[in-house]
Amino acid sequence: MNINELIQCYQSTFETTGLPRSFFAPGRINLIGEHTDYNGGHVFPASISYGTYAFVQKRDDQLIRFFSLNFPAIGIIECDLADLFFNPAHDWANYPKGMIKYIRENNLEISNGMDILFYGNIPNGAGLSSSASIEMVTGVLLEGLFDIPIDRIDMIKIGQKVENEYIGVNSGIMDQFAIGKGKKNHALLLNCQTLEYEYAPIQLERYVIIVINTNKKRTLVNSKYNERRAQCEKALQDLQTELLIQCLSDLSIEQFEHQKHLIQDDTNRKRAKHVVYENDRTLKTLLLLRQGNLKEFGRLMNESHLSLQNDFEVTGIELDTLLTAAWNQPGILGARMTGAGFGGCAIAIVEKSKIDSFRDNVNKIYTDKIGYEASFYTATIADGAREIHGGVL
Ligand code: GLA
Repeated sequence: MNINELIQCYQSTFETTGLPRSFFAPGRINLIGEHTDYNGGHVFPASISYGTYAFVQKRDDQLIRFFSLNFPAIGIIECDLADLFFNPAHDWANYPKGMIKYIRENNLEISNGMDILFYGNIPNGAGLSSSASIEMVTGVLLEGLFDIPIDRIDMIKIGQKVENEYIGVNSGIMDQFAIGKGKKNHALLLNCQTLEYEYAPIQLERYVIIVINTNKKRTLVNSKYNERRAQCEKALQDLQTELLIQCLSDLSIEQFEHQKHLIQDDTNRKRAKHVVYENDRTLKTLLLLRQGNLKEFGRLMNESHLSLQNDFEVTGIELDTLLTAAWNQPGILGARMTGAGFGGCAIAIVEKSKIDSFRDNVNKIYTDKIGYEASFYTATIADGAREIHGGVL
């Protein structure tokens, strides 16, 4: 659907002839640096052209009405500006509600109700951060509509707080940061401890990034995610009995190898190993991209996946089948899962001229083994959350 069609949907849903303001926040991929953000490490994400649109008009009263074209059967969800508490019956609308609540608690003035329509074209449940995307599109919408002076980093932190405290998923800051600060044709290297970041141009020459969705129906992702996080915290506590460190990513590979015996539990030791080595790979990636050494970057991507498969254990048969198939194709530089794992998406860097054979071969191997197809998309790295002016994204 294009923006004009979405605006027409808005007008018929809310029975208005007024022209709503339009906003967009992308989804994200992560090139490398997985499960490092909540361990004080580095991540290397980029925002993509798929994302969430939001259309909004102020109301004269205190009512907020939400509608999503992705969940039309749920219908319009209503709440009052004075009652923004989490409500399970409000389903997906809890994400924007949480943003409105916490932005207000930051002493930023939101005095009217509003009618908001959302539409997301991020592949469903794919681990490309549809939740951070709806949080951040709500953030820019409130900023624009009420003209509130909100620093972008504060908005990003509020998005994470919604996820952690309002929704109850203990996620790190990567997704909201990538979406809030994304830049066309650039990935960003973020230090999740200090929030220092720098952009790195993504010039892939004759290659493109392909996003591959396993299409696995994901269950229990949040509880498994929280479990991984707890295991990392336990490993850190064990190390802190003798070492003065704040987080697992404070350790170099050499220090980790020297001190890993302090971690009591074998599983927790493997989790920590992944974090330390992955952080190292992520830092190396910036230099490799600057040098144009795509081949070595591809190799680090493969290594990253194997570490997530064997040490962090967040991949599963669907992602592993996809990746093994991908690595064996001509024209591939590297491939790995992206995001939290347990299904979701992988990314692959593939030579443009080989895209068709890559997709056909990988999909055949995947379908034969898993029983249903994977989906393939070419990722375009686009700007972060923003208002859309004049109907042009
Ligand atoms: C999810 C979380 C992020 C990050 C990744 C794994 O996307 O929301 O904070 O932890 O998983 O790297």
